[in-house]
Amino acid sequence: METKRFTIQDENDAPLIEEAARIIKDGGLLAIPTETVYGLGANALDADAVHRIFEAKGRPQDNPLILHIADASYLARYCTDVPESAYRLAERFWPGPLTMILPRRDCVPDVTTGGLSTVGMRCPDHAVTLAIIRAADVPIAAPSANLSGRPSCTTAAHVFEDMDGRIDGIVDGGACAVGVESTIIDLTCDPPRLLRPGGLALEDLREVLGEIAVDKAVVSQLAEGEKPRAPGMKYRHYAPKAPVTVVSGDAKRAANYIALRAECGAGVICFDEYAPLFPRCTVRTIGAAADERAHAQRIFDALRSFDETDVCAIYAQCPDARGLGLAVGNRLKKAAGFHVIDMDAMRTVGITGPTGAGKTSVLRALASLGAHIIDCDALYHEMLQSSEELRSAIADAFGDVFAPDGTLDRKRLGACVFSDKDALLRLDLTVREHLPRELMRRMEGHSLIGIDAIKLIESGIANVCDVTLAVTAPEEVRICRIMARDGIDEAYATARAKAQKPSAFYEENCGRVFVNTAATPAQTEKQARAFFETILSELEVKGNG
Ligand code: TXA
Ligand code: MG
Repeated sequence: METKRFTIQDENDAPLIEEAARIIKDGGLLAIPTETVYGLGANALDADAVHRIFEAKGRPQDNPLILHIADASYLARYCTDVPESAYRLAERFWPGPLTMILPRRDCVPDVTTGGLSTVGMRCPDHAVTLAIIRAADVPIAAPSANLSGRPSCTTAAHVFEDMDGRIDGIVDGGACAVGVESTIIDLTCDPPRLLRPGGLALEDLREVLGEIAVDKAVVSQLAEGEKPRAPGMKYRHYAPKAPVTVVSGDAKRAANYIALRAECGAGVICFDEYAPLFPRCTVRTIGAAADERAHAQRIFDALRSFDETDVCAIYAQCPDARGLGLAVGNRLKKAAGFHVIDMDAMRTVGITGPTGAGKTSVLRALASLGAHIIDCDALYHEMLQSSEELRSAIADAFGDVFAPDGTLDRKRLGACVFSDKDALLRLDLTVREHLPRELMRRMEGHSLIGIDAIKLIESGIANVCDVTLAVTAPEEVRICRIMARDGIDEAYATARAKAQKPSAFYEENCGRVFVNTAATPAQTEKQARAFFETILSELEVKGNG
């Protein structure tokens, strides 16, 4: 089938409006622009035409369609028992990105509503489309114009990508002003229930309706077999081909987390301010962090654009749940199959400091408060054995430093780096490229984390921490401890202590300092525990505030 492209300047272009409306009247399929996303329209009262929508989209038949109407006077034609609140909402928000679920009349065929006794009604804010509806004089059933499972279309070019040859026509109305689908509110229950967050903020709806329940499918993944009230919410939607990970919570920490976690060549969706953090990724910006309208306008375009690239994974920053952020976050989380890392649900304490200061005891105190401890030095040694990526990077840089049985020959690597400053720097950079990524992965799923890293600051790991803590002690105390711990003489212990960065470096670069002068490890642990209790309760207050 040839798909005709209509470029209709405005609602006064009567001949073209008439020609487009004729497609609807004749039972054809016409993609229409709306303020939210493009719709794939057909006469909602013509069961055969509606069938063709499902075919063209590859959409499951049990997923009902929304009726697009020209104004609130159409409500009573297709719905019964229309509550007075529906008219109040229409008065305030129509034409606009709001769909109301109401009891349907029998004139609306089963195929349109997926057999439900209710129907979704929406009056889109697009002058050309409203003129087409009036000219056709029927409600237009229209799902979003994407192929089922792909991100919704916000430009006519996207519709062409998905629908060329499958439908009769596409009306090009430019880029969609809102960019995410309409908000769906179910008015058949009490209190009314938000089924899908969208282009109209929940806060605005509450101003008119008062209490509104939020359907579970809006904020979380449904269990296997669990039925959402909006059947469409159960599908993995809006998904690009590469797997998506959403990182929510404090924007700066989220961006830093992605910067450390994303592999070279991954895709990143971020707020404009943070784009420079990802020089080796394919980046799509969605507007400044505070610009929620831009996020909505650009989110589908960003998701869709990765399908033209060969990124292996996508990481996305996520707006908070206020205003349009609820809808944008919902679409991102659905694209991610609800694989979400919430920086605000993860309290992270980064601990650093010179040897002999008592970090081990301090970490034990944090562990006793339930923290998951990650020791970067231990992780490094583990990765030398188990990480193929790190091992091949080391082999690339230093040649054959692995014994025939595959274990690292530390002497050989040591010989390469200890005599040669540049080589040491190269090793450092190689580790810095691989270790933080594995560290970020291991933080996932823990609510309280302690990271023990001698290079906490230099590696950038400090940037994802809520608290950075320098554990230090006067040099003479450290020397005594090193002698006792390692069984070495004073001269050697002094050389060890002096080879490291001075305490002042750690103290200047960390948010907190714990000066450990305790006489025994047990005392250190006790004092550190009290110290952490204070810090954690401060974080709690900040988190709730
Ligand atoms: O902004 C929009 O709403 C766009 C534009 C084209 O108007 N349309 C749109 O349609 O997003 P669609 O089909 O992609 O999504 C409609 C959603 C689906 O999740 C569907 O399950 C739900 O609305 N829905 C439709 N009728 C319903 C009903 N009677 N009860 C509950 N949910 C319903
Ligand atoms: Mg859709």
